[in-house]
Amino acid sequence: MKRSAALSFLAGLTAAYAAVAAQAQTATATIAPTAGNTAKGTVTFAQHGDKVTVSAQLSGLSPGGHGFHVHEKGDCSAPDATSAGGHFNPTGKPHGAPDAAEHHAGDMPMLQADASGNASFSAELAGVTIGGGGANDIVGRSVVVHKDVDDYKSQPAGNSGARIGCGVIQKS
Ligand code: CU
Ligand code: ZN
Repeated sequence: MKRSAALSFLAGLTAAYAAVAAQAQTATATIAPTAGNTAKGTVTFAQHGDKVTVSAQLSGLSPGGHGFHVHEKGDCSAPDATSAGGHFNPTGKPHGAPDAAEHHAGDMPMLQADASGNASFSAELAGVTIGGGGANDIVGRSVVVHKDVDDYKSQPAGNSGARIGCGVIQKS
């Protein structure tokens, strides 16, 4: 009786550890407006196996589409966020739509803001990881919101205009 109680306690512990190990890796970027702009909100990344899901809630946008990318550097310090560098592109690809054959790893679907300037966003990213320190690790990089629509053709950034919001991606 004692022995089986001990065994079931051990089994329970093992299950608890397995549950912790299976928990998704997550990261968050808090978007703050660049100088003269009002874009703000939260972007959350979660890794499940080799897929990373992204969800975002943004406000302070003009209605319509806005280019939305992971940028290379986790530095939003410049008033216009140019300090964030170019699009995150560890595999040396051209800029493109996220569902195109070739695109930057940091190219995401556009944010679509409603008439009140709010946007809810959800998408899946391939070719990136959360943590691990590899070339495709997005932790310590940034998320940038642009003023204009992304044409997914112009190089190197889809002609999406000024950077109106920026946030560094931090492990959560
Ligand atoms: Cu961008
Ligand atoms: Zn790009």
